[in-house]
Amino acid sequence: MTATWWSHALFYQTYPRSFMDSNGDGVGDLDGVTAKLDYLAALGVDAIWLNPVMVSPMADNGYDVADPRDVDPLFGGIEALDRLTDAAHRLRIKVTMDLVPNHTSSAHPWFQAALAASPGSDQRERYIFRDGTGPGGIHPPNNWVSIFGGPAWTRVVEADGNPGQWYLHLFDAEQPDLNWDNPEVFEDLEKTLRFWLERGIDGFRIDVAHGMAKPPGLPDMEVIRAEVLLADMDDDPRFNNDGVHEIHRQIRRLFDDYPDAVAIGEVWVYDNEQFSRYVRPDELHLGFNFRLLRADFDATDIRGAIENSLAAAEMVGATPTWTLANHDVDREPTRYGGGPVGLARARAMAQVMLALPGAVFVYNGEELGLPNVDLPDEALRDPVWERSGHTRRGRDASRVPIPWEGDAPPFGFSDNPDTWLPLPPEWATLTVDKQIADSESTLSFFRRAIELRRDRPEFDGLAVEWLDSPAGGLAFRLSSGLVCVLNAGRRAMALPDGELLLASGALVDGKLSPNTAAWLV
Ligand code: NOJ
Repeated sequence: MTATWWSHALFYQTYPRSFMDSNGDGVGDLDGVTAKLDYLAALGVDAIWLNPVMVSPMADNGYDVADPRDVDPLFGGIEALDRLTDAAHRLRIKVTMDLVPNHTSSAHPWFQAALAASPGSDQRERYIFRDGTGPGGIHPPNNWVSIFGGPAWTRVVEADGNPGQWYLHLFDAEQPDLNWDNPEVFEDLEKTLRFWLERGIDGFRIDVAHGMAKPPGLPDMEVIRAEVLLADMDDDPRFNNDGVHEIHRQIRRLFDDYPDAVAIGEVWVYDNEQFSRYVRPDELHLGFNFRLLRADFDATDIRGAIENSLAAAEMVGATPTWTLANHDVDREPTRYGGGPVGLARARAMAQVMLALPGAVFVYNGEELGLPNVDLPDEALRDPVWERSGHTRRGRDASRVPIPWEGDAPPFGFSDNPDTWLPLPPEWATLTVDKQIADSESTLSFFRRAIELRRDRPEFDGLAVEWLDSPAGGLAFRLSSGLVCVLNAGRRAMALPDGELLLASGALVDGKLSPNTAAWLV
């Protein structure tokens, strides 16, 4: 593992819609992020990952890109991104963007041209159009389902006014999948990557990095399953097809022209060997390993997740990555049981994550201990809600804007009380301002933990050695000397010898309470 700026970096995921609204339209934007850079610097972040800000009709909050080489006016346009990048760089914070190579928006000029063209045309060859099956092609070409619910195929109306071919969309119907067998698709991605890298962007998080290559012949799914993120899906023909690795090699060759830029894949693949392929020396620099995120608050499960993530990275000499949250999953305090116990566990897990070697990703609001929000039906915006016929509520509950200050919604997030998702009144105790003033708050805890991780040499080691610990607990030592202990059991645990650097909750009689972690040197 060579030392690069990202090999021990703390990436902070900024969901731009929900971070800070600078222009009072109720939706967060890039000038809002710029306005809060001091907050991020004080937190100790090394890099920002911005969810998609390119031009988009926002059918999936920007993961439906209509112009990949411009910034949507909703987020302030390209000048706002330049302002953010310049200001961040002055604070030595890197800026990485989301890249969406698996699909475009249906409003993208390519897709509009494909709709206007006829079956078999070059325009249709950029996407995955097929004739239907059954009499008159009335049924979709195969049985694939969309991740968001419903079929993965939509039928188009041809120029003669009759129903015609079908196109593939693994996500929303407004997100048609690109045909990566067509060289034009990479040529265009190359233009996009160079456009942003030349503009000073420090890297990309690559959306659905395990999905771009489709299997020859598009065979049926044997097990029909829409929701895939947290499931094992080794048998799912929609993802993790071998052809994807040649695409990543092409991307990597381009990145090699920009040696200081990082490519990070979203890789929902759990088998270690399969996962490791994405981060081979000639593919992506980093891949999100979601094992820790998927683990229950259970010592055996957590240890397994850590061991497997380390093993997968080690197979190919890659940097391990750790993440507990993002905009697609429930927030940790809710996942770990909710209430004070859920929050205590979330803090303990953050402390475990921040002890591990490699790069870590913190999702905005995680540092405040925000839980999911119970939103009323009429507030839901995620396309999953509609596409699933109101059977899945989608991901809005973990995308609610950040509460900054004050005693009532929208807590300084916007001047406009009508924010794109409502902030709950009970977040009055969780605002940034209140937490900064409280040395016991989750924010103060994160700041301290990140500072220690950054400044103390005991965090630099790459090897993890497991130590004995009572049932329900786990303990490991980094080769550089840091000891991390987690009590995921029901009884207080004695701490090993050493100087206590930080605990995620109060000790009781010198012992580590349940749902608490500690660092010692
Ligand atoms: C993964 C992204 O994280 C998610 O938010 C999005 O809906 C899908 N990819 C489709 O782009």
